[in-house]
Amino acid sequence: MKKILILCLLFLTSYLLPLTTAFSKPVESLRGGGRYANDFGPETLNISSYPKVYQEGYRLTVQHCSKCHAASRVFNSELIEMEPEELAALKKAQPDWFKHPAIRRMDKKFWERHVYRMTMKPKAHPWTMKEAEKIKQFLIYDSQQRKLGSRAKEWEAHRRRLLSAFKKQFPELYQDRYAGKE
Ligand code: HEC
Repeated sequence: MKKILILCLLFLTSYLLPLTTAFSKPVESLRGGGRYANDFGPETLNISSYPKVYQEGYRLTVQHCSKCHAASRVFNSELIEMEPEELAALKKAQPDWFKHPAIRRMDKKFWERHVYRMTMKPKAHPWTMKEAEKIKQFLIYDSQQRKLGSRAKEWEAHRRRLLSAFKKQFPELYQDRYAGKE
């Protein structure tokens, strides 16, 4: 009996306690609110020219990724994901694009890591793995469309506007998060 009690206690402290502290963070404080420069941007995108499959991914993203923070945090993010070969080729062709990670942050598995990390958050459970995959595919496609290629300059100007709005509002957080990377 004693043994069972000790085991229960061990379970409670090692599993449930960390969970309760994670849960106790007030959700309102996570809402758009301005913790990221991204939050200062629009909450919707014009995706009318995107292939149908990505339009569905967009709808799922709006539906599922705006529960804790506004969708603006997603759509105005500096993150861009691509295959390792594409990344290597881009590094050669556009080395300048890699110098300012607060404008563009490129990596192999960014959105994948991100979407699955968000999938693990307790409030995120209502979405399925299939939906998570569609969201991820949309984010990869969309970030390459809007942040690179012929729209690279437009993206840079947009992101700089967000960064300067953020800096005005949260000068200290700006120093921590973005200074030297813009
Ligand atoms: C359960 C709440 C919750 C849900 C649902 C959620 N997020 Fe988040 N998100 C957070 C929190 C909290 C942060 C800030 C801390 C962190 O990065 O974990 C964040 C931060 C972010 C950031 C900024 C991180 C950075 O390093 O720039 C992005 C981008 C993001 N989320 C995208 C998404 C996407 C895409 C989805 C949908 C697949 C999503 N979020 C769904 C809670 C959530």
